[in-house]
Amino acid sequence: MNPNRKPIIAGNWKMYKTAAEAVALVNELKRAVADVKESSVEIVVCPPFTALAAVGPVLANSNVKLGAQNVHWEKEGAFTGEIAPAMLKEHGVRYAIVGHSERRQFFGETDAGVNKRAKAALANGLRPIVCVGEMLAEREAGQTSAVVASQVRGCLAGFTQDEMLATVIAYEPVWAIGTGKTATPEQAQEVHALIRKLLGEWFGGDVASQVRIQYGGSVKPGNASALLGQPDIDGALVGGASLKAADFAGIIRGVL
Ligand code: PGA
Repeated sequence: MNPNRKPIIAGNWKMYKTAAEAVALVNELKRAVADVKESSVEIVVCPPFTALAAVGPVLANSNVKLGAQNVHWEKEGAFTGEIAPAMLKEHGVRYAIVGHSERRQFFGETDAGVNKRAKAALANGLRPIVCVGEMLAEREAGQTSAVVASQVRGCLAGFTQDEMLATVIAYEPVWAIGTGKTATPEQAQEVHALIRKLLGEWFGGDVASQVRIQYGGSVKPGNASALLGQPDIDGALVGGASLKAADFAGIIRGVL
């Protein structure tokens, strides 16, 4: 972490929780983090689309912000199964995850599509959380830097400096997601530093020093502070552990 960047801890609930279950979980979470100051950490939860309408009012005027797990680039239209930015904003959504590795692996999303989603989010006042990360075989073949650099380049193509500043990047090594295998703080820091260096080359050092880069992949209360203690790790994108209020709150407390 770096004092110039406010840490951001986001929970990606994936395809878990009905609307009723989601309301119960955010109520529990709100209680668990009631004393956490917004000035010290930004907290975001990203429930499934069907829970947004119910969860939005529960989080209004709280220190927990609402995010979505994807967003389409068109305003509306014949795009079965997709969701438009205005549909999210209506429920108080402020962030949208784009390019999660599960979207890439199981639903064929590409860097070019992720770029369109992120641009549309920004044009509509939503902040994208752009996910990148290498597969195990790519890491073992020594391709991590090349893969991540190419994803970052593709996903952020054509961004202005202001768009870059409004964007969060999540580095999530695919082999660490949901596997219990976390990247070591040093492995994660190495990639975060590489991403920040690339941002510096494209957007200038001033912008690069302000962009927040989250780590994701089996983050738990027990490993969060070591990861977040690294100079270029500015937060966490948390899957499994965000489904338990006490664990998610434990991760948040790890950055205080
Ligand atoms: P995990 O998921 O924390 O369950 O590994 C992280 C993610 O997919 O964002």
